[in-house]
Amino acid sequence: VTKGSILYEGKAKKVYSLQNNNHDNQCVLEFKDDLTAFDGNLKDSRDGKGILNNKISSQLLNYLENQGVSTHFIKCLSDREMLVTKTKIIPIEVVVRNIVAGSLVNRLGLEKGTELAYPVVEFYYKEDKLKDPLINEHHAIAINLATSYQLKEMSNLALRINQLLKQYFYDLNLILVDFKLEFGRVSGEIILSDEITPDTCRLWDKLTKESLDKDNFRENKRDVLAGYEELYQRIQRRLEKD
Ligand code: C5P
Repeated sequence: VTKGSILYEGKAKKVYSLQNNNHDNQCVLEFKDDLTAFDGNLKDSRDGKGILNNKISSQLLNYLENQGVSTHFIKCLSDREMLVTKTKIIPIEVVVRNIVAGSLVNRLGLEKGTELAYPVVEFYYKEDKLKDPLINEHHAIAINLATSYQLKEMSNLALRINQLLKQYFYDLNLILVDFKLEFGRVSGEIILSDEITPDTCRLWDKLTKESLDKDNFRENKRDVLAGYEELYQRIQRRLEKD
């Protein structure tokens, strides 16, 4: 597999086509070392972050595939590169929350760490210039982001992924607080087409409640990369046990 031209560059990844045109249904994701927060207002770069995220995401997507969830993941190609199925991304970020943190603290006026009685699914319109506003199903349908059926499907998939990941992380002595997913369409099906990394999840140690995710960067707390490294080590230890 050889990388072709660049198709898209985001804040944390670059997307490339493949050189061999027989594979125009696949693309290569390259994970960057850049870190951003607060709609790109806070920026930094940490050597090796992209490598850790590629490895973490590969393990988690592979786990979900083994549990019967369709994802874009095909295989890990190198330290920073992953081969994925090309999809038409639906411009909606789906957030699932188990515990109050981040933007929900002020929206609902609840203390960080409050347990939610049921998982909460939220939709955000993926549009940088509007700073990804929170929307509901009616907005999404009215401006043609997705159909009612697709929204239901995304919400069901997100809840199923939440169940699977919650248990997976619990076994690593971690609490899955919340996370963001994106979905894409390919031949009539909706599949998970995103990374699952500490850039896009909140994960707390079960006992100390210490964050192992990007909140360490957002809040300038513990060394952000040390948290990512620890998460990767816990995933690896579980793999060796299985
Ligand atoms: O900031 P907020 O509390 O709304 O974020 C909820 C979850 O979604 C967090 O895990 C965060 O890392 C993730 N997220 C993301 N990309 C965004 C917005 C939120 O990965 N653009």
